[in-house]
Parts: sequence; C-alpha cells; structure tokens
Amino acid sequence: MIPYKNDDWTDFSVSENHESMKEALAKIEGELGREFPLIIGGERIVTEDKLVSVNPYQKDQIIGKVSKADQELAEKAIQSAYKAFDHWRKWPAHMRADILFKSAAIIRRRRHEFSAAMVYESGKNWFEADADTSEAVDFLEFYGRQMLELDQGKTVISRQDEKNRYFYQPMGVGFIVPPWNFPFAIMVGTTVSALVTGNTAVLKPSEKTPVVAARFVEVLEEAGLPKDVLQFIPGDPKVIGDYIVDHPLIRFINFTGSRATGTRIYERAAKVHPGQKWLKSVVAEMGGKDTILVDRDADLDLAARSIVSASFGFSGQKCSACSRAVLHQDIYDEVLARVIELSKKLKVGNPADHDTDMGPVIDDIQFRRIREYIAIGKEEGELVLGGETDDSHGFMIQPTIIAGVKPDARIMLEEVFGPLLAVAKAKDFDEMLAIANNTDYALTGALLTRNREHIDRARQDFHVGNLYFNRGCTGSIVGVHPFGGFNMSGTDAKAGGPDYLLNFLLAKTTTENL
Ligand code: ALA
Repeated sequence: MIPYKNDDWTDFSVSENHESMKEALAKIEGELGREFPLIIGGERIVTEDKLVSVNPYQKDQIIGKVSKADQELAEKAIQSAYKAFDHWRKWPAHMRADILFKSAAIIRRRRHEFSAAMVYESGKNWFEADADTSEAVDFLEFYGRQMLELDQGKTVISRQDEKNRYFYQPMGVGFIVPPWNFPFAIMVGTTVSALVTGNTAVLKPSEKTPVVAARFVEVLEEAGLPKDVLQFIPGDPKVIGDYIVDHPLIRFINFTGSRATGTRIYERAAKVHPGQKWLKSVVAEMGGKDTILVDRDADLDLAARSIVSASFGFSGQKCSACSRAVLHQDIYDEVLARVIELSKKLKVGNPADHDTDMGPVIDDIQFRRIREYIAIGKEEGELVLGGETDDSHGFMIQPTIIAGVKPDARIMLEEVFGPLLAVAKAKDFDEMLAIANNTDYALTGALLTRNREHIDRARQDFHVGNLYFNRGCTGSIVGVHPFGGFNMSGTDAKAGGPDYLLNFLLAKTTTENL
C-alpha cells in the first residue's frame, strides 16, 4: 500500500490546468438543469416534488432538480439500510477500503468536473473548489487506510490458558447530514467514514447543494459499492429531519451544520423510542466564532495576510473562518490599515472567472442575515470597509470590516457566516486571550507572535479544537490537522484524524478459556 499523502492542489497558472478547468466548467454548464432521482436500495425513484438547486451568483440559473424524499420514502430508505447492514457488516475491511481507493481514483481523473460543479452550485472560486475536491480525495485515501489499520484490532493481554482479543465492529445504520459549505469534501468524508467501517447509511445532502452529492453517489456506484448500502435521500429537513433522527433503527447521526440544528439533533437523539435497542451516538460539527490574535511583536505583514485570507476566503462561509481579529494596542492601527488595504484588492465577482477572489454568499436567507449583522455592526463599531450588498443577480456582499468593536458586542459573539470581520483592540496578551475565550464556541483560532512564552500560554489557555500559530485559522488538511471543536462548536470528533473512525465502531473483547 502506498503511504498516505495529501492530494496536491492544482496550479492554475499552468496553462494546461487552466484550460482543463475551463473545459470542465463548459462541460458542467452544458449539463445544468439535469434531474437526479433518489436512490433507495439501488432503486432510482423520481418524485414530482423537487429540490431546485440554483447558482448563488446567478439566481435564475438552475443547477439541477433533485427528487425529494417525504417521510414514507425516508422510512423505506431506513428499512433498506437496516436490511443491507446484515451483509455489508461482514464484508472484509480491505474490500470496503478498496471501494474508497477506487472512488478516489475516479475523482482524481475527473477532478475539475467536481470542482466546476461546486463553482456553479456553491459559488466557490477555482481555488476553493479545487481545494474542496482535494480534501474529498484525501478523506477517501485516509479513511481507507485508517480502516485497514483498525481492522488489525489492538493488543490486549492474554494470560496462560486464556486468549483475549480486542477488535472493532460496525454499529448499524447511520444518518449522514453534511453541510453546503464543503459540499463535496465533508459530504464525502462523513459518508465514507460510515461505509468503510461497515455501517450502512442514509445520506441527506444539504438542500442547497444536492447536485454535487448526487454526482458522488454515481462515483460510489461506479466504484462498486453494493447498491443497497447507501440510500440517497435529498429532502426538506423540516419534513424528514426529525423523523429520521427519532427513528428507532438509526444507530448514529453524523451532522455538520448550524448550532441550532446540531443541538436539536443531540437532544432528540438522546430519547429512546419504542423498539430502539441502543443509545444513539451523535457526531456534531457546529459553528465557530474564530479569532485571530495579533501580538505586539508579530510579523505584521503575515498577520494582515492571514486575517484577510481566513476572513474572506469563500466569503467567510467556513466554520473555521476568522470573524474576529483581536489586535494588541501597540500595533492596532498598523495591522488594521494593512488588512483594509489588502481586502480592498480582493476581486469580488463571478466565481467561474479564474481571477475572482470572492464570489457570492450561498442564498437569500444568508444574504439577509449577513446584511442584518452588518447593520448591527455599524451600531457597534466603525465601518471601515465594505458594507455594500447587491442581490439583483446573485447574493453579493462586499468584504466588510467593522473596527473598534467592544469584546461583548454581538458581532464579536454571534456566528455570522459571511464576509464580515470584527476588529477589537486589546491592551495586553492577557486581555487578548480573555477575548479569544469569551464566546460559547471553541473551533479554530490563531496567534501571530514571535513570543515563545505566549505560544506556550496559548497552547494551554486558548480553548479551541484547532489552534494555529503564525498563520491563518482556515485550511485544515486531512491527516495533517485533524479538525473539530469544543464547547458549542461540536463533539470534537476530529475529522481527518487518527481517532475519527472510532466514532462509528463498537469495540469488542472476546475471552477464550483455553
Ligand atoms: N476544515 C475546514 C478548514 O479548516 C473547515 O477550513
């Protein structure tokens, strides 16, 4: 087995790569409007009622129409997954892993098609879409290998005349609920982590990005996944969400999305329903209010670049995005000036254009929410950049910075999920750390400093799941930066890490008296 290595991002300055991406965009554009069925037990089911996915940059452009499950179809999907568990759990781990490796190979060969699909469906620019595709490939390659390792079990002590074994078995039917902001990578990672561990699954993709998910289900089929193992049921979460979470045959839920939905799932999953034989487990990756701290002796250029890319990459719509910069008073004016200057240079526009830095936000609901927060921010501090919004053709919001904000301002505490950065001043490092920890969230954070003692203190006291020094707080890489947060950011499952698959396995001990 070749050792795991991250999939390289594409260098679009190479003309051949640039041309391939343009061809893929043209190909996907030619396929816009395609219809996708539900898939239950391998059967393709077309419903009258459909989810209509649109381009957030050009809202009258339909990306695809996807059939929609109601409760009856959700029931059928759960029953099908439950039945399939009987045979799938007995497949050897290496055969399950091979399906992941084959899927990775298929995606690598057609990588720009998946990236192009995300450009149209989620508004990612070339770079962000390409990184999302690489991350999907990484999850396939990494979890495949992790499963092979776990399949060996772990050593426990045997005694004279007593042979003991410790190994892992799958749990049952998983309900997979991925987000729209990493519509490929997180959807792939959460789905295949369930499958490779021998569980069967019901996948409900985000209703905002169902088409890229439908394309992945086709990849799994091509790679040889037995037809009844994964049920693909896009649908309205209000209609089928609680129904599936509450279902007695569901064994675990893997959710990535908002705090409100994550806590609702966590609460509902705790209730044992008639006919249910287990306690459900929940992996929840929720929001963040991620902070970059800039110390008085930091490399100020690096600090400004890190803040801008972490705040405005993919329009600030990553759970890891920097939404607060806390600057030491001695360097506050200088860093703020550099951040504004760099942000002004960002090209905001059509994500299908190769040189666009920032595209739209995902939809009308987010557009209005971010606009409200900009209005709140203007009351809480000084608008020093941006603030303009335009939804005439798509959901465009300019990179926006509100400075001079108090630590307890709403835009310092509440998750916005958009290109809105709050900047606060702190008198010393103690105050910087106190502000970093003053929210309910604890996902990512960064500290720019040359002070080693401060690095050590932050390591202990800056309470987040992913803490970075002298860089921005986005862009974790599978197998390199296991990802996940504490507190109201989630259950700290650490996607892309060495312990992730254990969330979907039961450890078993056997003891044989010899
Ligand atoms: N894993 C993603 C990042 O680190 C969310 O940006």
